[in-house]
Amino acid sequence: MVTKEDLIYRQIVTMRDGARVLLRPLMPTDRQAMLDFFLPVSNEERRYMRHNVNDSQLITSWTENIDYDQVFPLVATIGDRIVGEATLHFNEGPARHRAEIRIFLAKDFKRRGLGSKLIQSLIDIARKRSIHLVEAQVVTDHVEVIKALHKVGFETAAVFEEYFMLPDGEIRDVACLMLRLRKVEDEF
Ligand SMILES: CC(C)(COP(=O)(O)OP(=O)(O)OC[C@H]1O[C@@H](n2cnc3c(N)ncnc32)[C@H](O)[C@@H]1OP(=O)(O)O)[C@@H](O)C(=O)NCCC(=O)NCCS
Repeated sequence: MVTKEDLIYRQIVTMRDGARVLLRPLMPTDRQAMLDFFLPVSNEERRYMRHNVNDSQLITSWTENIDYDQVFPLVATIGDRIVGEATLHFNEGPARHRAEIRIFLAKDFKRRGLGSKLIQSLIDIARKRSIHLVEAQVVTDHVEVIKALHKVGFETAAVFEEYFMLPDGEIRDVACLMLRLRKVEDEF
């Protein structure tokens, strides 16, 4: 369950080049900043995304219907600008001990250490929510995402062949990465 501590979560991170970025949960007032964040996404990048992030109604619905118990969205901001977003997706029933991570950064904020910081912050939040396993599904073309996840401790658990279909019908493999935060025996 979402706690007050989750909602007041704030972290200022200093990137390798000295730039300072605030990490905080997404809020309903972020609608315009989210639209601006996704506006420059290229067609090539969008081919690999699960959603059409250039659809303003979709982005509006994300900011208007925030349910931190379903999806915890963490944004990286500089002033009013959103420069990165990472989300932690929770499950129910037999999958309630697992959560999935997704991430996207503005082009000019890649390779500056921000991706690692966002992922690390979501791992901390998952730990506080007693999540055992954090997962990520990444199209295998995205070697840089896989590398960034490996660097913070994820392991490739499986590769699902022909699992992702691009808008034009091309097919890609998907790597399923896992980070185990708790083992059952840890509890005894
Ligand atoms: C992948 C991503 C999150 C990495 O974030 P980042 O801030 O650029 O990465 P960091 O600077 O924290 O670097 C972490 C590590 O990732 C790897 N990495 C990041 N970008 C890389 C690239 N272009 N090529 C190779 N390795 C790369 C490196 O191992 C790097 O460590 P190093 O700098 O010590 O070599 C970011 O580039 C991104 O948002 N990419 C697109 C996201 C996407 O496609 N999401 C959908 C799938 S979930």
